[in-house]
Amino acid sequence: MSIEIRKAQNKFDYARCVQVRTIVFTIGQNVPPDREIDPEEDNAIHFLALVDNVVMGAGRWRRYNAHSAKIERLAVLDIGRGKGIGKALMQGILADIRKTDDIRDVILGAQDHAIPFYGSLGFVIYGDAYMDGGNIPHRDMRLVLQNEEAA
Ligand SMILES: CC(C)(COP(=O)(O)OP(=O)(O)OC[C@H]1O[C@@H](n2cnc3c(N)ncnc32)[C@H](O)[C@@H]1OP(=O)(O)O)[C@@H](O)C(=O)NCCC(=O)NCCS
Repeated sequence: MSIEIRKAQNKFDYARCVQVRTIVFTIGQNVPPDREIDPEEDNAIHFLALVDNVVMGAGRWRRYNAHSAKIERLAVLDIGRGKGIGKALMQGILADIRKTDDIRDVILGAQDHAIPFYGSLGFVIYGDAYMDGGNIPHRDMRLVLQNEEAA
């Protein structure tokens, strides 16, 4: 199995990202379609995970403020889960963020079930529990890049 992580380079790649997100979030988790596609789409850099050249995962990141990036919409198709695709996608996205000047930390809103997944990548919970994406329990998590580099 070969996993390739790359940036979406054109509207066709972007469409593939949305296909994965529609299956995983809109159909799989009942996230309202008008919540899943949001006004930040054009401000984000979209990533694809291809397994043997077939799209199996997607995610996006964007600058959140002067010193923070935010990772959003991370999704792996059901049939691809548990094989390291999500982890590879996160590592590819984080590598891209690290190339960007002035970004000191990375934040995300984790669905409760995914907290151990992000935790295994160094993210730590902060703030209170909340509902998002319809009615899905979430916690905010953060990865401080300087600490990671110093470690
Ligand atoms: C969360 C998600 C992206 C993980 O992708 P994945 O390809 O299955 O994850 P991986 O196979 O790369 O797992 C990486 C590590 O995290 C662990 N992990 C993955 N999902 C986990 C979960 N739900 N709970 C606990 N641990 C988990 C794996 O055991 C693995 O650990 P290891 O490195 O010690 O072997 C995927 O389950 C998914 O798309 N879920 C539905 C959409 C979603 O909820 N997205 C997150 C929105 S915040």
